[in-house]
Amino acid sequence: MLVIPPISYRSGTLRMIYRRVSTALMTSKQQVFEWLQMLAQVYAENKTHLTQLDSAIGDADHGINMARGFAAVIEKLSGQDQPLGAALKTTGMTLVQSVGGAAGPLYGTFFLRAAGSCRDKTALEPQDIVGMFEAGVDGVRQRGKAEPGDKTMIDALDPAVDAMKKALAAGQDLKSILEKGRAAAEQGVQDSIPLVARKGRASYLGERSAGHQDPGATSSHLMLKAALETFAS
Ligand SMILES: Nc1ncnc2c1ncn2[C@@H]1O[C@H](COP(=O)(O)OP(=O)(O)OP(=O)(O)O)[C@@H](O)[C@H]1O
Ligand SMILES: [Mg+2]
Repeated sequence: MLVIPPISYRSGTLRMIYRRVSTALMTSKQQVFEWLQMLAQVYAENKTHLTQLDSAIGDADHGINMARGFAAVIEKLSGQDQPLGAALKTTGMTLVQSVGGAAGPLYGTFFLRAAGSCRDKTALEPQDIVGMFEAGVDGVRQRGKAEPGDKTMIDALDPAVDAMKKALAAGQDLKSILEKGRAAAEQGVQDSIPLVARKGRASYLGERSAGHQDPGATSSHLMLKAALETFAS
């Protein structure tokens, strides 16, 4: 059973030491829990930032949505000992159920598809982690019908998956695969700033959406960053 350390161990320097020592020894299942736990923390820390971004081109709720959704995920998973595929499925279902608007169903679909891609696996190899992201992003694209250039989370997620697939095919190790994915997502966030939104609430603004950073692309970059820090530290 995965033991979730008390809050005091998860703060500041102790948290860093805990992660450094522990992730090297973790099973894939524990790394998945660690990733989800880090996402809950990262979205709580970035709640105001993401909500400010959404107040410029949306309805000022993206940070609230993400923080609430992942807090609900951790509450649901705590004290359970689910296989990693089942934990990812619970994550997806919880996000769909607990987060309204666009981001809940979209990130929910990401995790449901990710769960499907590693259903019976107990150990995730680099190709499984890339496959998990690829399946998840395919799901987001099918569900939201956004294409790269529409100024959505797809502008971060799609280049991230491309970069990770290239790095995997070139035989790079997991750390550099995930770093390539994270960097491509960050670049995607920057590249989408001048774009005019064609999907979601931001599209109602038309030309006035140009020049603003997309909140969903930003939360997707944070998802990749957390994956780098948990799966490959
Ligand atoms: N069709 C879509 N496909 C992919 N991502 C989308 C789509 N629509 C919106 N998004 C992403 O969702 C983010 C907004 O998420 P939020 O949690 O604020 O939900 P929301 O307020 O219901 O969104 P919206 O009203 O813009 O659809 C946007 O910044 C964008 O990245
Ligand atoms: Mg919103």
